[in-house]
Amino acid sequence: MERLSASAHLMIVSDLDHTMVDHHDSENFSLLRFNTLWEANYRHNSLLVFSTGRSPTLYKELRKEKPMLTPDITIMSVGTEITYGLSMEPDVGWVEVLNQKWDKNIVVEEASKFSELTPQAESEQRPHKVSFYTQKDKAQAVTKALSESLEKRGLDVKIIYSGGIDLDILPQGAGKGQALAYLHKKFKSIGKLPNSTLVCGDSGNDAELFSIPDVFGVMVSNAQEELLQWHAENAKNNSKIIHASERCAAGIIQAIGHFNLGPNISLRDVKDFLDSKLETKSIGYEVVKFYLFYEKWRRAEVEESCLDHLKKSFNPSGVFIHPSGLEQSLADSLSSIQKQYGDSQGKQYRVWVDRVLPTKISPDSWLVKFDKWELSGKEQLCCRTTVILSSKDSNAAGEFVWLHIHQTWLEGSKSELSSTWLF
Ligand code: GLC
Ligand code: MG
Repeated sequence: MERLSASAHLMIVSDLDHTMVDHHDSENFSLLRFNTLWEANYRHNSLLVFSTGRSPTLYKELRKEKPMLTPDITIMSVGTEITYGLSMEPDVGWVEVLNQKWDKNIVVEEASKFSELTPQAESEQRPHKVSFYTQKDKAQAVTKALSESLEKRGLDVKIIYSGGIDLDILPQGAGKGQALAYLHKKFKSIGKLPNSTLVCGDSGNDAELFSIPDVFGVMVSNAQEELLQWHAENAKNNSKIIHASERCAAGIIQAIGHFNLGPNISLRDVKDFLDSKLETKSIGYEVVKFYLFYEKWRRAEVEESCLDHLKKSFNPSGVFIHPSGLEQSLADSLSSIQKQYGDSQGKQYRVWVDRVLPTKISPDSWLVKFDKWELSGKEQLCCRTTVILSSKDSNAAGEFVWLHIHQTWLEGSKSELSSTWLF
């Protein structure tokens, strides 16, 4: 919560499965487009919140499978667990709220009387969430009967049906919407209510996100029937909610544009992304641009002449410290890059950056820390990276000069590739 010194410009609260993450897009193209947009234009002044039905166990699995960014806040288990940052520090205040009129044992006991309910995996049963599978045609009747029996036992619960299969039982005060309301209240109390909030979802457990006051909302094009039905019955005339024509993360980008919430063009969609006249420069933008270039260079999707253009942005006597500990001048590093042209052509090869966080260390220089990820085939590697950039006044072609790069393997990321000179 302390990362931003002022109110967030934009807070995006997005569901993951079939919203931020498209399981039908094996190239993850729209997710990578979103990542590029976020790190270049929003990371420094905005907040990214993932709100998923998954437990911490399944959430971590998804992070290993898909090129996802690190959110500032992670809300898991259908709004019953809130954590902060990379270290996933839990919000203990939230747990106290959820204990009211809740007794997991009674929920399990009453639910076991319904043969229509099949328990989900053990990992998905959480302190404030009991989850089952049930057929679409049974869902309504079971929900009604179960609520009645739990009420008789003195509990106050919320039953949510999602994806035409999942049935979750939570404390009444829980859920994705309540968790967001709790965060809004918390931000307000420290005078940092975000300037705008955009909620993004596709299924039943996302519905309550759309009823939080003053938020913008996007139901992605591939939204489930149960969410569209909820919208038709409850929010049809709310002009702050759209049903996007694009799927998943592409629908989120579409909504940013539709509601004028800020920049909505991802550098991945810009053919001349190296053109320095493109946009007001920011540090995030510079870092994203370079690594996008690096990906495209190795995929042979940029012209070979681009490297000359880029050389002007590197101080030749600057140093690159490779994760192996070896060091090279930036001039030599660029020569190494030269040889890599097209070596990943036609292969599944992607590069993206996460958590690009600059700190100004003098009137014209910045220390930038970020995670650089590379996907090569099925292997995902991460280097924690620190860079020193300086704003250059002598050369009108661009605004920043790279002075120093230092990388370390993230634990578990070291591989046979570690002997290659990768940026
Ligand atoms: C995720 C969770 C599951 C839950 C569903 C809907 O798939 O793993 O437990 O029922 O979301 O909320
Ligand atoms: Mg979903």
